[in-house]
Amino acid sequence: MLKSTVNITRNLQLTNSAAKFVGRVPSQSRLISYTRNKPSSVMAHRSPTQGKQLPKTTNIEDWARSDIYHNSFLIPQDPVLDAALKNSVANGLPEIAVSVAQGKFLHLQARSIQAKRILEVGTLGGYSTIWLGRALPEDGELITLEINSKHAKIAEENLYNAGLFPKCKVITGPGHESMVNLPSESKFDLIFIDADKPSNLKYFTEAKRLIRQGGIIIVDNVVRFGRVADPEQSDANIEGVRLLLNALKSDQDVDATTMATVGEKGYDGFIYAIRN
Ligand SMILES: C[S@@+](CC[C@H](N)C(=O)[O-])C[C@H]1O[C@@H](n2cnc3c(N)ncnc32)[C@H](O)[C@@H]1O
Repeated sequence: MLKSTVNITRNLQLTNSAAKFVGRVPSQSRLISYTRNKPSSVMAHRSPTQGKQLPKTTNIEDWARSDIYHNSFLIPQDPVLDAALKNSVANGLPEIAVSVAQGKFLHLQARSIQAKRILEVGTLGGYSTIWLGRALPEDGELITLEINSKHAKIAEENLYNAGLFPKCKVITGPGHESMVNLPSESKFDLIFIDADKPSNLKYFTEAKRLIRQGGIIIVDNVVRFGRVADPEQSDANIEGVRLLLNALKSDQDVDATTMATVGEKGYDGFIYAIRN
């Protein structure tokens, strides 16, 4: 371990919110001490600039531009996904689906474990469902749970138009109830939780029952512009995430980490857990 200690003031050119977050949490004092190799997120900020000023403050427009730039190399235009979004908006569904890059990430995750059975909690218009459903083999299956019958109907239309019906099935009703009714015998390889945030822990508990050993559970929107980590902030969604984090702290059934993200959907992140 490197012994040299670096002191920084709390306001040391840490102008973007992620950097402020890093500076505040390990110590409440105005002067923050940390060793060169700890915490790693601070080092990740330091190493590219090494004593120089950090780049300008970035905001959602920069993150969106960056997403568009990277997507232009890695994710071709997709008329089917575009049509699903268009149909959802035309029918008044809120624009809260995962981003293009996040959708592709979910797809890649599912493929990386050769998922054959996927469960999603929170369908909306089926945008993430299409990304995940396309990762399945011929004989794969995806079940997606949605409380809102209008959302479920639009999702079914979109899944049909994407050629994913009936491989991807929408179950309409309260997500937790639907989960409880799923048998534990046929396990899922991947579960994506993206519904009402206050129920996160309830969904996660059921997900543990339904996922196979080594399977992946992903819980979306757990950073919430850093508000989850800010003790001065509270609302039902934030508390839902905190409840889950508290439970995970002593949970021996899974290994988990939070990946914070910035992009066209803002500053957020997801919990990524593997079932032991
Ligand atoms: C963020 S959206 C899902 C977005 C979708 N996963 C995507 O990326 O395309 C959350 C969805 O969860 C649904 N929802 C909210 N509460 C629910 C509940 N108790 N049970 C099931 N679904 C619920 C909402 O109606 C909404 O359609």
